[in-house]
Amino acid sequence: MSRSTEQTTTRADSPAVSSARNTAFSVLMGISALAVLLQGLWAGIFLEHDGQRDAAGSWIDVHARGADVALAFAVLGTAYALWKRRARKDLWIGGLVFIVLIVVESYLGGQIRDASKDTLTAIHVPLAMAIMALAVWLPMRAARRTS
Ligand code: HEM
Repeated sequence: MSRSTEQTTTRADSPAVSSARNTAFSVLMGISALAVLLQGLWAGIFLEHDGQRDAAGSWIDVHARGADVALAFAVLGTAYALWKRRARKDLWIGGLVFIVLIVVESYLGGQIRDASKDTLTAIHVPLAMAIMALAVWLPMRAARRTS
């Protein structure tokens, strides 16, 4: 390997460059995690008005938009990991699982609201906690220098 190629490879793989790339992943996933955390706040507000659909309705809409934000940033973070950090299977596979769980969570939420399947709340709420745990785990995992 020529000296210049060696220098380029060393620079691209340096811990500083690697860590900067993971920072971008962590920021995108961190924003998604914040949106997931806020879902609990919006839910707390509309559940306070349980039974009064007009008062609760707009906060359920905020909750629905929050799900969109969480999903959008999860997709961006996972796409970034797939594109720039393909070697870090833990990050993009974790991101794909995160996306699937948010989609399932949103589907269950829609069933609770649109099909009045209130019993699904017993899955929707604990699943939200599992999603929150994954949302915290992903940036922590990204901070580990495994490649
Ligand atoms: C990952 C986090 C969460 C996501 C992505 C999510 C997503 C959704 C979505 C998309 C809906 C349907 C809204 C609509 O159709 O307009 C919904 C409904 C609902 N969510 Fe969540 N949610 C999350 C967390 C939570 C949490 C933490 C709670 C409670 C502590 C909660 C309680 C509910 C309830 C009770 C409904 C039904 C509202 C109603 O019609 O009365 N959600 N959720």
